[in-house]
Amino acid sequence: EKDPRWTAVDEYVNANLLADAKLNGALEEALKRTRAQRLPDIAVSAAQGKFLQLQCKLIGARNVLEVGTLGGYSSIFLAATSPEIRVVTVEVNEHHAAVARENIAAAGYADRVEVIVGAGRDVLPELLANVNAGKREKFDFVFIDADKPNNWFYFDTAVKMCRPRAQIIVDNVIRGGRLANPEAFEDPSVAGSREVIEKVGRDPRVDAVALQTVGEKSYDGMLITVVKDT
Ligand code: DHB
Ligand code: MG
Repeated sequence: EKDPRWTAVDEYVNANLLADAKLNGALEEALKRTRAQRLPDIAVSAAQGKFLQLQCKLIGARNVLEVGTLGGYSSIFLAATSPEIRVVTVEVNEHHAAVARENIAAAGYADRVEVIVGAGRDVLPELLANVNAGKREKFDFVFIDADKPNNWFYFDTAVKMCRPRAQIIVDNVIRGGRLANPEAFEDPSVAGSREVIEKVGRDPRVDAVALQTVGEKSYDGMLITVVKDT
């Protein structure tokens, strides 16, 4: 399933393009702790983390929302974008959240990353209420990487608390190509990915594309959306 060429290419390009020794050290330490604590090995790849960081740089993001923290690997990439960026990251599993807090603190970003423990179904509406009440700033960038059946709920709630031209990215929508395989349509994660793609396509609030990717994390891809100006 995973082609060794994909991993070799990730290793080659990362050696040349992901050369921040301090950040790499923090990320390696985070992965080591995450594995030692028996969390699943499903964080984004280093190249994908850098991609998310470049998107934040491009839009000058200051307020970032992440749904699905796991061990905080992508949270560290996002926090490392700039000293001005603040990340709110939501994690349903208390153990995962505790490991993420350790990883984020060891990387030096505890003061700019807020880990909220709770189900996205509960936490996102609370965040929305706070944004609507003026208690929280709107978000410029959202990364949705949690339980896939709730993709559309997270996306729809995120749009409501984003500024115009914010970017919202949904991870893992391609699912090894099962996204377009009728035999997999009953899989709740495939169904959740298809639901968010189909509803985003009809949603006048956003523009979108889905990009297939290969690499050390095999064959998958992200749904990439931008909140319209008007
Ligand atoms: C799965 C979830 C992820 O967020 C990911 O990056 C890879 C796989 C999964 O649920 O299988
Ligand atoms: Mg993911």
